[in-house]
Amino acid sequence: MNFFTGKPSPEALSFFKDRNILDLAHFSKQELETIMNVANYYEESLNAKKRLHDMDGKILAALFFEPSTRTRLSFEAAMHRLGGNVITVTESAGAQTSSLAKGETLSDSITVINAYCDVIACRSPIHGARLEIAQAATVPVINCGDGVGQHPSQALLDIYTIIKEKGGIDGLTFALVGDLKNGRTVHSLVDALAMYDVKLIFVSPPELKMPSFIYDKLAANGIPIEETDNLLYASKKADVLYMTRIQKERFEDVQEYERIKDVFILTDLHVALLPPGAIILHPLPRVNEIVTDVDSYPGAAYFRQAANGLPVRMALLALVTGCVL
Ligand code: CP
Repeated sequence: MNFFTGKPSPEALSFFKDRNILDLAHFSKQELETIMNVANYYEESLNAKKRLHDMDGKILAALFFEPSTRTRLSFEAAMHRLGGNVITVTESAGAQTSSLAKGETLSDSITVINAYCDVIACRSPIHGARLEIAQAATVPVINCGDGVGQHPSQALLDIYTIIKEKGGIDGLTFALVGDLKNGRTVHSLVDALAMYDVKLIFVSPPELKMPSFIYDKLAANGIPIEETDNLLYASKKADVLYMTRIQKERFEDVQEYERIKDVFILTDLHVALLPPGAIILHPLPRVNEIVTDVDSYPGAAYFRQAANGLPVRMALLALVTGCVL
């Protein structure tokens, strides 16, 4: 069954032109649903093997100052599938290739890169970098992760996946598991879920709890939250079990990471407790949080989730550049 309502009206599409996608708190539920419908429109075009020209002649600057597989490659693939071109910076601490290595500021770099492209997709290790990037940018910016801050395109593909797998969001119970303190994907996901009628269970060790401002935001939206460090208990209740990796790169003390890294490992024992029709998501990469035996469970949707990144990111690129044909 298709749960989407088709390509939105030109008026609905026009709200996105020249907008930044920095965090989902800037968007309404209606706008989020417009993104979902455009993503589905592009997914159908991909399935029909249509050759698209929506972004002919446009250039994406994919600036990744932190490692990435899914986000960078799906944004690049999205641009190619839309007929556009890509220029890229990929670097990480100790392996810099841009002039940031010479001491250029991020702001100056973006000021220069504006002239070379029509849209920027950027990942930075620095929490809050999205604001500095957006201030310097004269083309639309899509935040692809800023330290422990936000990762809005991941949350959008998560929502898209849940709608495809479960038929909607309202009425579902979500268990968010793992490093809720440092995991930017869950920070963005709760912004999206707060627009719906959902119940949340936060499953983390005390050291890795959600930041307090997120509790305040959810309380303001009347979203019920339970907290536990018992994954078996949460598995019995979750329609959507959202596993996350313990974010090694955010730990100052490696021994602390080693102590905590295997705190939650999802196995067939947990899967057996899930309600009928429950799904398991993970933004990936996984390290040790889900044993590979679980991959054959029909509700193990994490690889389908990663694939959904392509149409969702096609939608974002085409919307913010005003290119949806
Ligand atoms: N989920 C996600 O952001 O994956 P990458 O770090 O590989 O982009």
